[in-house]
Amino acid sequence: MSEFEKKLFEFKEKIKVAKNLSELTKISSEIFGKNGIINLEFKKLGSLSPDERKNFAANINSSKKELSELFSKKSNEVLDKEIIEKVNKEKIDITLPEKDFEIGKVHPVSQVIDEISCIFSEIGFSVEEGPDVENEYNNFTALNTPENHPAKDMHDTFYLDQDMKTLLRTHTSPVQVRTMLKGRPPFKIIAPGRTYRSDSDQTHTPMFHQLEGLHIDKDINMGHLKGCLNYFIKAFFEVEKIKMRFRPSHFPFTEPSAEVDIGYRIENNKIIIGEGDKWLEILGCGMVHPNVLKNCKVDPNKFQGFAFGIGIDRLAMLKYGINDLRSFFECDYRWLNHYGFDPLDVPTNYRGLSR
Ligand code: DAH
Repeated sequence: MSEFEKKLFEFKEKIKVAKNLSELTKISSEIFGKNGIINLEFKKLGSLSPDERKNFAANINSSKKELSELFSKKSNEVLDKEIIEKVNKEKIDITLPEKDFEIGKVHPVSQVIDEISCIFSEIGFSVEEGPDVENEYNNFTALNTPENHPAKDMHDTFYLDQDMKTLLRTHTSPVQVRTMLKGRPPFKIIAPGRTYRSDSDQTHTPMFHQLEGLHIDKDINMGHLKGCLNYFIKAFFEVEKIKMRFRPSHFPFTEPSAEVDIGYRIENNKIIIGEGDKWLEILGCGMVHPNVLKNCKVDPNKFQGFAFGIGIDRLAMLKYGINDLRSFFECDYRWLNHYGFDPLDVPTNYRGLSR
């Protein structure tokens, strides 16, 4: 038996009995490292005749292969064993009480989403969701938005590919499309979520939140829309009466379209919602355009309805007296502690929304 063969035998034994990864790492460098037995054996090639070399090299290579296979099999075994031991050792008793925890706060945006969902669920709306990364069809085309519409401009929309086919949704309206395409009318849904536009100042952030509403059924008219929004605004601001006006507007996906303003006044530097002679725009709405219904496989001769889109952040600012939108997304724990809500105080229509 040659010296090399003896070593091979020894190392095979060493691999077999190795108990942990650190032993295996050491063995690995003794075999395969720069000064390992394989390399040292290869160095002998220089002193051999061309004929001898061929056999000699083939022999080292097959030994190397054999050792590598043995080695990786053993490493896997040891690794599995170590993981299992670790998992067994790290059992956590989740029934033990937490020793020193701090109660976190619910962000005002999450609170407002919960409040709004609560209000709409009371009158039969269910909650839908859609993805932040949307396709161009759902975000624009299906919503009857013409090819040259300014909203499609690079300045407003974050496109995710060169072909401008994938984007970050610019509004929650594509959830209307998704909902109608996957079901059959009637539809009565709201869809809160994140939306994105390339815009940033005191009242705009590149990511913001909207809430979409859609009600499609037989014989739904603008009166239903008005009644629904009136109910919502009063419930949301927790007041008996509210001054509200519908102003004609234009959206490609609704006809007719309107924007809704609510009345307010400022008293002692505080904003009083629902009365006064100033107006504040809070949402866009209208009767869903027949083209949108057709694109979503709904027959506009049988079904119609209304849709609306609300800026959630703005409502949160108004209701809770927060005046810089950017502070919402700065993740400042002191801010959250001040403006946040108790996680155990879930809003309900019966116990009160924000108390
Ligand atoms: N998607 C519109 C926007 O982001 C808001 C909107 C307006 C939504 C009218 C609607 C609607 O559903 O009917 O500005």
